[in-house]
Amino acid sequence: MGTSAPELFLAFDRTRRRGLRAQIEGELRSAIRTGRLAPGATVPSTRALAGDLGVTRRVVIEAYDQLVAEGYLLSRPGAGTTVNRVPPVTAPARRPGPAPDPVRVDFRPGRPDLDLFPRAAWARASREALRTLRGADLADDDPRGLPVLRAALAEHLGRVRGVGADPEHIVVCGGFGHALDLVAHALPDRTFAVEDPGYPGPRRRLTGFVPVGVDGDGLVVDELRRTPARAVVVTPAHQSPTGVALSPARRNQLVEWARDVDGHIVEDDYDAEYRYDRRPVGALHGLAPQRVVHCGTTSKTLASGVRLGWAVVPPPLMDAVLARRATTDGATSSLLQAAFAALLTSGDLDRHLRRSRRVYQQRRDAVLAGLGEHLPEAAPSGIAAGLSVLLTAAAGHRRAGRRRPRPAPGGAGLAAGAVPGAPRRPPRARARLRHGAARPGGPRDPAARRGPAHDPATNDADARHRRNPRAARHVLRGGRREDGRGSQRGRAPHGRLGRCPTGCARPC
Ligand SMILES: Cc1ncc(COP(=O)(O)O)c(C=O)c1O
Repeated sequence: MGTSAPELFLAFDRTRRRGLRAQIEGELRSAIRTGRLAPGATVPSTRALAGDLGVTRRVVIEAYDQLVAEGYLLSRPGAGTTVNRVPPVTAPARRPGPAPDPVRVDFRPGRPDLDLFPRAAWARASREALRTLRGADLADDDPRGLPVLRAALAEHLGRVRGVGADPEHIVVCGGFGHALDLVAHALPDRTFAVEDPGYPGPRRRLTGFVPVGVDGDGLVVDELRRTPARAVVVTPAHQSPTGVALSPARRNQLVEWARDVDGHIVEDDYDAEYRYDRRPVGALHGLAPQRVVHCGTTSKTLASGVRLGWAVVPPPLMDAVLARRATTDGATSSLLQAAFAALLTSGDLDRHLRRSRRVYQQRRDAVLAGLGEHLPEAAPSGIAAGLSVLLTAAAGHRRAGRRRPRPAPGGAGLAAGAVPGAPRRPPRARARLRHGAARPGGPRDPAARRGPAHDPATNDADARHRRNPRAARHVLRGGRREDGRGSQRGRAPHGRLGRCPTGCARPC
C-alpha cells in the first residue's frame, strides 16, 4: 500500500467536539456509501493516513477496525484494506405529497405546440448551414446579423407580410422583447404607450409607459392622442389578448398620429402567420416605413426557446439601435442565423407554416365547438387567427382566475390564462384560452389517445345539459348562440373538444 494507496480527502477538524476516531469513521463511511470510494478500492495504510491527518496510528487502526466490523472495509493479511461492496445510499423516501393537479387540457396562453417544431427540417437546415457557412461568418462582425439571413428575411417579409425591407435595415436579434429593448434605448426621451389590455412583455421592459385602451377596432387612437406618448407598441395584425385586428381607419389614424407627434410605432407582428379565414392583412409597416419599426419573432411559429427575431428599423434610428446592441449582446449566434436562413430559403419554413396553420385551425374549431356545447354563456371573441381566443364570462362573473391560474381541485382539469387588468373594461371576467397546444393529456399521455378527458362530475355533457337547460337548448340549435353571435361555433365542423374528426394524425 503506502505510496500506491489512493489520495483520499477526509474532512477532518481537530477542534470539533466529536472524537477524532469518530470523525475518521464517519467520513469513510459516508465516502463508501455515496460511492466516492468505489468497491474494491484500496484505502491508505493506517500509517499513511495517520501521517496525513496528524493523528496517532492507533486512532486510525481503531477506525478501520470498526469499519471492518461493520462490513464497510475488508482487511486481508498482505492485501491491505479495501472497500467492500455496500448498497449505495438512496435518498430517504419522501412522503408522498398531494398529487399535482391534473391539467388534462392546458389552455394557458403563451406557447405554440412545441411538438410541432419541425425537427427534421431544422436538422437539414443546420447541416446546410454548416456546409455553406464561410469562415468569416463565424465571427460576429456585423451586429445587424448575417447578410444571408437578412436577405432571406427581406424576401420572406416582402412576400408574406408585405414589408418592403432593405436587408441593410434589418437587425436580427433574440425575439420581439429584445427588439423592443433595442428600440426603447434608441428613443431614450420617449414616453411609450402600450395597449390596454395588452401583452405584459412591453410593460416589463419599458421603464415608463402609459396604457391606452383597445376596442373592437384595436388601439383607440383618440385616447393615444391625449397622452404625452411619442412612441407606441401595437399588435395590429391580431391584438393581444383581445384578438381584434386594427381596422383600416385606425391604421391610418395611427400613422397620422405618428407623423403629427414625430413619433414611432413599434409593430409587434408576433403571430401574423396564423390567420385562418383569409390571407393575413399586410403589416402596418407598409403605410409608414419611416415611422414603423416592424418586429417579428420565431417564438410562435417555431418555439420561444429558439430566441430569434428581427426588427426592420427606419434608417434614422439604425445607428442608435446598433449602438445599444454593441453594449448588450453584440450579435446573434451565427450558427442559429445560418440555420434559420437555410430554413427560409429551402421553403421548409413555408411548409411548416402551412402544416401548423392547418393543425391550429382545427384546434381552434374544436375549442369553439366545445365552448358552444359546454359553455354557451361565455362569449369567445376576436378574428379567426393566432393561437388563443379571448373568452368573456357571462355577466356576473367578475374573476376569470388568478394570474397563474390553476385548475380547480377535482374540477375538469382545464387551465386557462386570466387577462391581466381586463375586468375594468368591460366589467366582466375574461380569460384567454390557448387552443394552439390544447390537447387532452398531451401527446405522450396515454389518456390523450383514449379520447377526451371524462369527469363524470364536470364533463358529462348529458348531465350538464340536464342541469343547464340553456345548454341543452343550445345543442338542439346546432351550436349557435341564441343571440346569433358566435357564428364560428355554428360553422365549426368538430364535435367535442378532444375528438378531432378531421382525421389529423394527432389528438387535437
Ligand atoms: C403579443 C406577443 N408579442 C410577442 C411575443 C414573443 O416575444 P418574444 O419574441 O420576445 O419571445 C409574444 C409571446 O408570447 C406575445 O404574446
